[in-house]
Amino acid sequence: MTITRIVLLAILAGTATVACAAPEASDPAPMIAGRQATFRLSGAVMGSMKAAIDRGDDVAGQTFAANTLANWARVMPGMFPAGSGVAPSKALATIWSDRPGFEKAAADYQSAAAKLAGLAKAGDKPGFAAQWTELRKTCGACHDHYRQPDTH
Ligand code: HEC
Repeated sequence: MTITRIVLLAILAGTATVACAAPEASDPAPMIAGRQATFRLSGAVMGSMKAAIDRGDDVAGQTFAANTLANWARVMPGMFPAGSGVAPSKALATIWSDRPGFEKAAADYQSAAAKLAGLAKAGDKPGFAAQWTELRKTCGACHDHYRQPDTH
């Protein structure tokens, strides 16, 4: 068997593997786990920002963290494809029945986080603290309409 043949066979085998794996891509479980993990990370980021505010830390060091929240807000709606509102997800069906409202809630979160990043970069401590509270409101505003209430 020539090297070219071995390479071609390997490529064909790879393609076959991808083709066989394709139906699994519609399994929503990894998407649900991925977005829930990212939401928890975003909660941790918010918590460490609040601790920095309470300590009176310089806020310039929070620019990167605030930008990651804005980036997450931008990609978040894409993490909610149709059919992914199944257990163990806490997503409400309103995400799909009122898609524009859900996307608006994500956009509000994104612009609040981007504003927070700007204030961090400017080293504006009081502005950063006030905007952190505004940003947190956008979390609740979305949860009120698009997530099952916390049961714990
Ligand atoms: C545009 C809507 C929206 C915004 C804005 C939003 N969330 Fe959520 N969040 C959701 C939805 C929907 C779920 C449920 C996801 C699931 O279970 O599939 C969720 C779940 C969560 C969870 C639970 C994850 C788990 O393990 O079940 C946490 C924690 C969370 N969000 C924190 C935040 C924080 C903190 C913010 C703001 C910094 C925020 N969220 C902003 C929609 C949003």
